[in-house]
Amino acid sequence: TVDLRGRSYLSELDFTAPEIHHLLDLAHDLKTARHAGTEQPQLAGKHIALVFEKTSTRTRCAFEVAATDQGARTTYLGPGDTHVGHKESIADTARVLGRMFDAIEYRGSAQSIVTELAAHAGVPVYNGLTDTAHPTQSLCDMLTMREHSTKPLTDVSYCYLGDARNNMGNSLLSMGALLGMDVRIAAPKALWPDPALVATCREVADRSVARITLTEDVETAVHGADFLHTDVWVSMGEPTDTWRERIELLLPYQVNDKTLTLTGNPDVKFMHCLPSLHDHRTRLGLELFETYGLNGLEVTDEVFSSPASIVFDQAENRLHTIKAVLVATLED
Ligand code: CP
Ligand code: NVA
Repeated sequence: TVDLRGRSYLSELDFTAPEIHHLLDLAHDLKTARHAGTEQPQLAGKHIALVFEKTSTRTRCAFEVAATDQGARTTYLGPGDTHVGHKESIADTARVLGRMFDAIEYRGSAQSIVTELAAHAGVPVYNGLTDTAHPTQSLCDMLTMREHSTKPLTDVSYCYLGDARNNMGNSLLSMGALLGMDVRIAAPKALWPDPALVATCREVADRSVARITLTEDVETAVHGADFLHTDVWVSMGEPTDTWRERIELLLPYQVNDKTLTLTGNPDVKFMHCLPSLHDHRTRLGLELFETYGLNGLEVTDEVFSSPASIVFDQAENRLHTIKAVLVATLED
């Protein structure tokens, strides 16, 4: 039996496949109960610190609503709200928060920060996104693919296209390797995940029987895929003057109608962790579309808004999967 009480969730490979499946089953049960109005709060009296050194819509709201549904309370500390890293070390911040809170969520840049927080806090620490991993998102993506598939996850194939060196590229590679899935990455070699992570994932895949493909060729990568994933081409914290370079490099990896057709799968689904620059209804979208004469960046609006797109089911599942992490690690 799986017991995750007291555990931190810093990256996918901290957990075993049975532990991830346990979280997915729990998320499913919690989702069903919430929809039925029968959810039982299991975290009454718990306090959770939410430290965000980068902005967020989904992750913050998912933690806040999940905690509230479960009877716990949250304290939100936004970008620039704490002394962490400026006037106070990460270790001291961890020790202080650990005296007051039952758990700490952290979103920021270096993965080493969440590792250090976890080493000193004495309470579970959750990675709410770093430059190298977004493990609560990949957990959500697994639940979403499970819900939209008739096959077990081990038979599911998905392709991530675009900037595969970012947190989502790393996280989807790691999670697929861990769960024994058919994982394809279609990206220019310069934006493949870190070779050390790829080597680790290949070792994990040897045991899980995952199939891992990294290629620059979109056609082979997407053929037969059940799900296509993408993400923004410039992530939070990256210099914004890289847009021109990224667009030139990544335009062949845009998810558009042709990409869907190339899968040969009429039931293929489109996924995106969001936020997405698929149309001009954002300031940045408008600016980039006008500057570079584009119609969509990582995905076209046609695909994003099509029946193949399950991005808002995916967004809702952030709530249920983050709640599962809270309940599993904090229940008495
Ligand atoms: N997908 C995701 O993490 O969204 P936010 O940046 O809005 O939290
Ligand atoms: N790769 C994106 C994910 C946002 C949820 C970023 O880090 O900005």
